[in-house]
Amino acid sequence: MNIVLIGFMGAGKTTVGRMVAGRMGYVFIDMDEEIERAAGLSVNTIFEKYGEASFRGREAELTARLAAGDRQVVSCGGGWALNPGNVAMRGASSRLVYLRANPESILKRTEGSSRPLLNVGDRAERVVSLLKSRTPVYASVADLIVDTDELTPEEVSERILEEAETWAT
Ligand code: S3P
Repeated sequence: MNIVLIGFMGAGKTTVGRMVAGRMGYVFIDMDEEIERAAGLSVNTIFEKYGEASFRGREAELTARLAAGDRQVVSCGGGWALNPGNVAMRGASSRLVYLRANPESILKRTEGSSRPLLNVGDRAERVVSLLKSRTPVYASVADLIVDTDELTPEEVSERILEEAETWAT
């Protein structure tokens, strides 16, 4: 089984993914970090130098590689689930967990970070408009949805671990 964490920037995918992988004895993979390592460039630089489409291509290539693996917890970038090809490729035994967060939590958790899509004058407006288009997509592909606003990363992880016990391994 693979556990794939999806959701908006700042939802806690990386923090929670690392915890869940540790508890399950699975390998943890952060897709953004993996893409950065392979390219020898930061996500920001990939966006600046080659554009978003190039980043999305790298994301899809990595998805194809990971789909063959097992016992992985994969933390996806916030745009991953928007590409139906990625979702289709994810592998039969993968479970998609959507970490849901409201705009307030997202703004707080992404404060001071340098994500290319939030590098705009009005971050709040950008977050609200991106969330509006993305939320239905995240929800429609998810096997499990966890509301993270009132929970600590430990509590979110517990929720996923409980559910994972009911999933075939
Ligand atoms: C993106 C989210 C980022 C990263 C890239 C694009 C998005 O990942 O993949 O900046 O489209 O939402 P995080 O969700 O880990 O911040």
